[in-house]
Amino acid sequence: MAKPIKKIAVTGGAGQIAYNLLFRIASGEMLGFDQPIALHILELPDAMKALEGVKMELEDCAFPLLKEIKIGSDPKEIFKGVHVALLVGAKPRGPGMERGDLLNDNGKIFVEQGRALNDVADPDVKVLVVGNPCNTNCLIAMSNAPRIPRKNFHAMTRLDQNRASYQLAEKSGNPVDSVTNVLIWGNHSSTQVPDFLNAKIKGKPAVEVIKDTQWLENDFINSVQKRGAAIIAARGKSSAASAANGAIDAIKAIFTPTKPGEWFSSGVYSAGNPYGIDENLFFSFPCRSKGDGTYEVIPNVPWNDFLKGKIKLTEKELIEERELVTNKLGVEKIHG
Ligand SMILES: NC(=O)c1ccc[n+]([C@@H]2O[C@H](COP(=O)([O-])OP(=O)(O)OC[C@H]3O[C@@H](n4cnc5c(N)ncnc54)[C@H](O)[C@@H]3O)[C@@H](O)[C@H]2O)c1
Repeated sequence: MAKPIKKIAVTGGAGQIAYNLLFRIASGEMLGFDQPIALHILELPDAMKALEGVKMELEDCAFPLLKEIKIGSDPKEIFKGVHVALLVGAKPRGPGMERGDLLNDNGKIFVEQGRALNDVADPDVKVLVVGNPCNTNCLIAMSNAPRIPRKNFHAMTRLDQNRASYQLAEKSGNPVDSVTNVLIWGNHSSTQVPDFLNAKIKGKPAVEVIKDTQWLENDFINSVQKRGAAIIAARGKSSAASAANGAIDAIKAIFTPTKPGEWFSSGVYSAGNPYGIDENLFFSFPCRSKGDGTYEVIPNVPWNDFLKGKIKLTEKELIEERELVTNKLGVEKIHG
């Protein structure tokens, strides 16, 4: 018997990430090749014509699993009954714009979308925030959606994890699928901490395979932290296909049992975390899933002094981001 349809919301539907994401979701790559889906796509009114073009192209793919496409600008219409919501749409940082301005502008989007999800989405909707600054946007969305379990919200650090995996594979001359237990701690920003200490290559610690501490502590970390900027410099636009791929991997990770002894990175709510990180942040931790859409944070992944120093910096940045937003958007909701 065919499975019931899963409704998937994607925001920013006329943007460049969505153009690389929607078709792969519709093909079955994200939730499985036996899972019928409906796409609910949100855009701003000004971009609705472009979104109509995207819808036409989705239709022209004749995807067997794609049972319905709904487009619109009202989050309360688009989020009705959705089981998965990928919040991609956000304003890019403009010239001369401070981080606080971006947080303030984009924060408003995530207040509205958090409320709409709260009011009309499936009560167990899984939410992935991609729009930047994604960790703090995720905190805002969650804070405005008290009906939805806090553990259902994720901020995307999977692209960073994938970038780190590739760097370790390339440096060691091994295939990328021999690299496991790669992990990003903290914020999806240039303070993020790509962890080489716990990474493995062919089951052996990456530090024993790549014996170059200088490279691991400097080039590796810097190249992952600054990869987004390097792509903008090369392409003239921010990463889109790899970001869409990261979003698909991030959702797949919570709907697939994690292999024993392995983990994936996701920015998740820090309340009750086993690492002593401030309890009211979206922080990227090592996670594992039973494959039912839930996850747990894996405890006791060791830090050395080098990692600890960097993890404290990314935590500090997230606390500062939270302060910037709460000062401007109303503190009590977020700290409530
Ligand atoms: N977490 C990550 O790893 C990661 C990686 C790459 C990009 N990003 C972020 O993803 C976001 C989207 O990137 P992009 O390249 O697709 O941008 P884009 O500018 O090409 O597209 C964004 C789209 O969102 C729409 N939009 C804006 N506000 C909206 C709202 N309130 N509701 C619905 N739609 C809205 C815009 O009209 C636009 O079409 C950016 O914030 C970017 O910084 C995150």
